[in-house]
Amino acid sequence: MESTRQFALITGATGGIGAETAELMASKKHDLILTARSEENLKLFACRLEETYKITAIIFQADLTAKKERDRLISFIRDNNFQIEFLINNAGFGDYGVFSTSKRSLNEKMIQVNITALTHFTREFLPDMLRRGHGRIMNVASMAGFMPGPVMSVYYASKAYVQSFSQAVAEEVRGSGVTVTALCPGPVSTDFLTKSSYEKAFIMKLLKPANPKDIARFGYKAMMKGKTMAIPGAVNRFLLLTVRLAPRRLIVSMLNKLHRKTSTPVEKSVIISEDGFLQDSSSR
Ligand SMILES: NC(=O)c1ccc[n+]([C@@H]2O[C@H](COP(=O)([O-])OP(=O)(O)OC[C@H]3O[C@@H](n4cnc5c(N)ncnc54)[C@H](OP(=O)(O)O)[C@@H]3O)[C@@H](O)[C@H]2O)c1
Repeated sequence: MESTRQFALITGATGGIGAETAELMASKKHDLILTARSEENLKLFACRLEETYKITAIIFQADLTAKKERDRLISFIRDNNFQIEFLINNAGFGDYGVFSTSKRSLNEKMIQVNITALTHFTREFLPDMLRRGHGRIMNVASMAGFMPGPVMSVYYASKAYVQSFSQAVAEEVRGSGVTVTALCPGPVSTDFLTKSSYEKAFIMKLLKPANPKDIARFGYKAMMKGKTMAIPGAVNRFLLLTVRLAPRRLIVSMLNKLHRKTSTPVEKSVIISEDGFLQDSSSR
């Protein structure tokens, strides 16, 4: 007999968009399974959510780069007969810098978290949702998925995968009662920008990062409505129109320039040269 305990599984729940989505879903009385690498943060966060919203928040510490850890999480869910009614594939990270000098291991881990884990969990929980005739999946993509991103090539490409994969599966399951949503935010003010060093890119001077709470709210609404593509903010929708109308070659070249130019906190401009090293712009 199927368990009646329904949960929202949220990956990358310790910060940013994932934590805001968890808080929002807790406030709407959804029980949660929260996962990330930092157990201490998970514990504190889950305790606060349980106390504040009187829900169940189960934590599961896992590094999603490892298949073994992802399998461990899946077994934990199966062994406890938990039903995943909402799957929020949110965990992800980026790395700012030219590809030729990028860290190989970091690229691999990025692909594992941004692409492989998301695909793995979708494949695992989607059939159960289809059998039941209901369920919601939200994959956190990015505006980055709409264009190639020089100086952050693997990250941009990973988000193009998330968009393409989500749209394709959403179409496959249309009419089944199960929906798949790709949430595509522009820059959001979270640790992502610092951890990836993307905040150093000059382009970040031109864009105002959104509040993660607003992005979580937008994503949740879109997911509940069963929307396939969720693009928060008029600026992002306008940018998307530009990207679609302009020749792709022009977009990539412009983004290359905007991404190579960096700005330090003291407003000094530097450029990343072809070999990946920083140069003072005044010396050019
Ligand atoms: N911030 C932006 O500008 C922006 C824009 C568009 C899309 N996004 C996307 O939004 C999603 C959430 O990012 P965020 O901005 O909220 O960043 P964040 O604040 O850095 O949160 C990332 C979350 O992912 C978890 N995580 C990272 N690596 C992991 C791993 N190997 N295994 C398990 N969990 C891992 C982190 O927890 P631990 O460190 O504890 O593991 C954290 O909870 C990502 O997919 C990102 O690509 C972000």
